[in-house]
Amino acid sequence: MSAYDVVIIGSGPGGYVSAIRCAQLGLKTAIIEKYNTLGGTCLNVGCIPSKALLDSSEHFHNATHNFAEHGIEVKGLKANITQMIQRKNEVVNQTCAGVKFLMDKNKIDVHTGVGSFVDKQTVKVTNGEGKETLLTGKNIIIATGSKPNFFPGMEPDKKRIITSTEALNLTEIPKKMLVIGAGVIGLEMGSVYGRLGTEIQVIEFAPTLLPTMDGSIGKEMMKILKKVGFKFQMEHRVQKVENKGKSVVLTALNKKNEAVTFEADYCLVAVGRKAHTQGLALENAGLAANTRGQVEVNDHLQTTVPHIYAIGDVVRGAMLAHKAEEEGVYVAELIAGQKPHLNYNLIPGVVYTWPEVAAVGKTEEELKAAGIEYKMGSFPIKALGRARASMDTAGFIKILADKTTDEVLGVHMIGPRVADLIMEAVTAMEYRASAEDMARICHPHPTYSEGVKEAALAATENRALHV
Ligand code: FAD
Ligand code: NAI
Repeated sequence: MSAYDVVIIGSGPGGYVSAIRCAQLGLKTAIIEKYNTLGGTCLNVGCIPSKALLDSSEHFHNATHNFAEHGIEVKGLKANITQMIQRKNEVVNQTCAGVKFLMDKNKIDVHTGVGSFVDKQTVKVTNGEGKETLLTGKNIIIATGSKPNFFPGMEPDKKRIITSTEALNLTEIPKKMLVIGAGVIGLEMGSVYGRLGTEIQVIEFAPTLLPTMDGSIGKEMMKILKKVGFKFQMEHRVQKVENKGKSVVLTALNKKNEAVTFEADYCLVAVGRKAHTQGLALENAGLAANTRGQVEVNDHLQTTVPHIYAIGDVVRGAMLAHKAEEEGVYVAELIAGQKPHLNYNLIPGVVYTWPEVAAVGKTEEELKAAGIEYKMGSFPIKALGRARASMDTAGFIKILADKTTDEVLGVHMIGPRVADLIMEAVTAMEYRASAEDMARICHPHPTYSEGVKEAALAATENRALHV
């Protein structure tokens, strides 16, 4: 039996980052991961591989559609999906190996196998050969993440009815793909294959794309994606999806409650993810998953057993890698006796389509629902010199500020490189800046960041300079 200050179950961005912070703070730390590679969903089948394929497919899209206008002629252009997947795998392997390096560097013990509670203090690790090792932890952190969700009738068979995991490893470019769900995965993975020539048809039961984001973003995104060939069936409720051998047939109910069918060679099920606690034997520690499958925690990420914490996708809140990381650091510092702080309102959300989407703080819908009076300043990307130079002119930057105090309450962007631009807004909001504060900052010309200044000027006194 090995004894630790902290035992962490799960090596995703929540677990491994928490392990590093624990070790930095002098805590003897062990991490348990059931797979042979570290890094969890994010590094193996999530953020990193999806972004690798998004980048490759975006190059292909530009070479096919935009190079000629830039004066670059390309003949015999062809997408090689095998090479794309191979490069993606190399990126994943390097990144996962980097996590193992960090564990070793920080003297964190890595135990490979399924972690399950024996009691409130002890975790059993069962490896692939059935060998069991017992670890005791003064503190235990559950960081077991999430798995793809699905509803009755759309169970993935992982061959033609697939989740994001299989979509990251297809061996052919589909002619047509149905995508259930116009959320983040649906639009990102739909973009990957759409750019490679697949006809993408999205079936969504909400009336707008990205329904949890500011309403203006979904509207703009739909216009943009329709231009590159996406088809959308909004307000359609999927009833069933069947694998017919060489094709899939999906049946959905439309707004009028009529059954409509769609056929394609693949169907991507992207209707959210669910917390993953399978195999943990939570009951042995006196814990239970809630009705949503999540581990319940208080504001300090403690479960009902105070020395057992839970972080990341397995608990409430946004299912994002950076949210899991922040929670991992928070718990490590709390265990070490510090007084950490985490502002959930300032966790940015990004969608890596092209153009990208990025947001932080409150949406207009949330402000209206809360009865908060606000001012709105918006600036079109097409009015930026930098955007015309690069031919990336779609989108806008929108800033919402308190009507009385001018404090920035929410920033919503759709445009080129906004995944990086959003950090200006996050920083400003962390320091509780006003729209005028943001507007008075000098921004370099020509950059996309000038759009942030212009939107802030528009929110301050409706005095954007370049519209
Ligand atoms: P996970 O990363 O899910 O890690 C949990 C780990 O625990 C896994 O390795 C699992 O094997 C292990 N585990 C589970 N049970 C046990 C057990 N009993 N014993 C031992 N090990 C166990 N987020 C972003 O912020 N940006 C993005 O661009 C982004 N892109 C994404 C793209 C896709 C296709 C997907 C699917 C997700 C994406 N996400 C993205 C979400 C992000 O991957 C998750 O929010 C993040 O990985 C959650 O981290 P976590 O540490 O909580 O859990
Ligand atoms: P999501 O919650 O973003 O979107 C799911 C979509 O499916 C919603 O629009 C919902 O209305 C729709 N839907 C649900 N049931 C349906 C049904 N029966 N028929 C039709 N539509 C239905 O979930 P998604 O895209 O699967 O992503 C899962 C998680 O992974 C998200 O929480 C996200 O945070 C994370 N992620 C983050 C990324 C990023 O940060 N860039 C990239 C990919 C995933």
